[in-house]
Amino acid sequence: MQPRVLIPADAIARRVAALGAELGRRHHGGSPLLVALLDGACCFAADLARAIPLPGLELRFVRASSYRGTSSTGTVELGALPALSGRAVILADDILDTGLTLAAAVAACRTAGATRIETCVLLDKPARRAVAGLARADLVGFSIPDRFVVGYGLDLDGRWRHLPAVCVLDGGVPGTP
Ligand code: IMP
Ligand code: MG
Repeated sequence: MQPRVLIPADAIARRVAALGAELGRRHHGGSPLLVALLDGACCFAADLARAIPLPGLELRFVRASSYRGTSSTGTVELGALPALSGRAVILADDILDTGLTLAAAVAACRTAGATRIETCVLLDKPARRAVAGLARADLVGFSIPDRFVVGYGLDLDGRWRHLPAVCVLDGGVPGTP
């Protein structure tokens, strides 16, 4: 199994800069809360936050998990959210796959009192969406085919997360067709 580059680091950097600028325009003069889902969004959130030109931005992390190996368990576990009453929230995740994680996170932010919620993902795998999943994110870095990807925060049971590029695993992923 060897990682093969699907999206090089410089292309990611350019796209994240554009997403940050767009969020800066959308929230001009405001103090949104960027809530990033761990562990997958670790790299994306760190770069995205620094690309949003808003002095009032706040960055928080929440743990979300639904994956074991290369498949979604379908049950989303979400950590405690910060106080969100009356806040504008930007929910950031590494990838929109079945959409179940972001659907649960959006619902939780609403319940916690957020008045504006935007979703922002680096990657979108539209082919994989579940009926109960979030249909689309408000901002998407790259739309990708239905392949398991690693790197730039995305992992396979803890491996490959540190790769600077988004990669597919050549030779396939054990346990998948
Ligand atoms: P969803 O709930 O199915 O949309 O999945 C979202 C989460 O599953 C993401 O936050 C990722 O952590 C993980 N995930 C989905 N697809 C991949 C992949 O191709 N590689 C690594 N992680 C993935
Ligand atoms: Mg994740």
